Amino acid sequence: MKRSFVVLGGSGDLTGRLLLPSLAELYERGVLDGDVEVLAVSQQDWDDDAYRDWARQRLTAHAADLAEDARERVVAQLGHQPGDVTSPDDLRRALERVDGVPVVYLALPNTVFLPALTALREVGLPDGARVVVEKPFGTGIEDAHELNEVLHGLVPEEAVFRIDHFLAKQTVLNVLGLRFANRVFEPVWNAQHVEAVDIVFDEDLGLEGRAGYYDKAGALRDMLQNHLLQLLAVVAMEPPQALDAATLQARKADVLRAVQAEVASSVRGRYTAGTIGSRELPAYADEDGVDPARQTETYAEFTVTVENWRWSGVPFRLRTGKALGTKRKEIVVRFKPVPHLPFADEQPEPDVLRLQLSPDGIALEINLNGAGDPFDLEREVLRATSPEQELPAYGLLLREMLAGDPTLSISDVEAEQGWRIVQPVLDAWAADEVPLADYPAGSDGPA
Ligand code: BG6
Repeated sequence: MKRSFVVLGGSGDLTGRLLLPSLAELYERGVLDGDVEVLAVSQQDWDDDAYRDWARQRLTAHAADLAEDARERVVAQLGHQPGDVTSPDDLRRALERVDGVPVVYLALPNTVFLPALTALREVGLPDGARVVVEKPFGTGIEDAHELNEVLHGLVPEEAVFRIDHFLAKQTVLNVLGLRFANRVFEPVWNAQHVEAVDIVFDEDLGLEGRAGYYDKAGALRDMLQNHLLQLLAVVAMEPPQALDAATLQARKADVLRAVQAEVASSVRGRYTAGTIGSRELPAYADEDGVDPARQTETYAEFTVTVENWRWSGVPFRLRTGKALGTKRKEIVVRFKPVPHLPFADEQPEPDVLRLQLSPDGIALEINLNGAGDPFDLEREVLRATSPEQELPAYGLLLREMLAGDPTLSISDVEAEQGWRIVQPVLDAWAADEVPLADYPAGSDGPA
């Protein structure tokens, strides 16, 4: 069945930086059977040719390493429909223009999902249509719930792709492989043996011109509510009986239902001016398009517990921030100390397993006997690096959307649970119960 993408927000940053380049990558790697028509809808007053010129520039900037043929194959299939994505008439006109069964992609700010989907429901979609919704899925628990209701009135749940591109990262696939294709980890993967789990995503990038979206979202909604909780879900879920979409989503939803945030542990911060390597960053509050009065955080941290048999009592510490001095992206599983040491009195460091993101790899820090005195302990690290991921995360997601397989998307329940978990923290922050701490760009974050 021929498919056409209808991209709402087709002149936006996401479309130009990720969607069109990923499509070109799929062509270059010969992953798609035929060409895919893409109709972009945006408020720009462009005809098809003007849009193609814009797209060509974006592809040159963001897919420079791909062959020109692949990029031109994308450009040749592009069209543009000027319009308001919240107007049923404009959406109807766009849908009438495409040849294939539509995959409607909401590449929009999260605040626009509800009016856009409400307009789309008024128009209706043909049988077999799919809807893709970017992250974060709405602005809060009530909005997410309403979004799910509108979506369910539009297409069946299995035709909804709620994006969390972290699920298509090699790391997540590695966690599944490590946990469920080996015998040695699962028996110790519980509160009896694990002391704590840290899920860290420290970025050295600042705002990167994304104030329009980010200043209304902030670190907690941008990263923690979705990406970091999804990493937690795959680390903490029960073993799935199969790896199809319904089973995987159900196991993740089960564990998310058990997660409780500890508001008192939360930290929020915002970067001030500073230097990272040779880059000088202005204070977040001075970046173009930022409204300092919003008090948007660029750093978010809190601890959650997982209230179930397997994890009771184990803290999962989640942390992410922008403009930090060191890029550190990893899931760290910290094991408990050994119960008895047959050597000297010195208690060695407990074992630590690091599941590292970009570049992906695994490092297991363990204790071994030293080379000299057999009773001396040495810290050794066993490392495995993953071969580079064949397709970038967005490429994998686009392929899955076209194939109709939502395994790497999140379900309605997971999306609402994500908001349920963070809501008490958002409320406490909105009520100013936790101060907004400053940290200089290039530092390790708030003190
Ligand atoms: C996006 C966030 O979803 O993920 C960005 O909006 C963040 O703020 C990005 O930088 C990180 O993902 P990646 O794949 O670029 O490492």
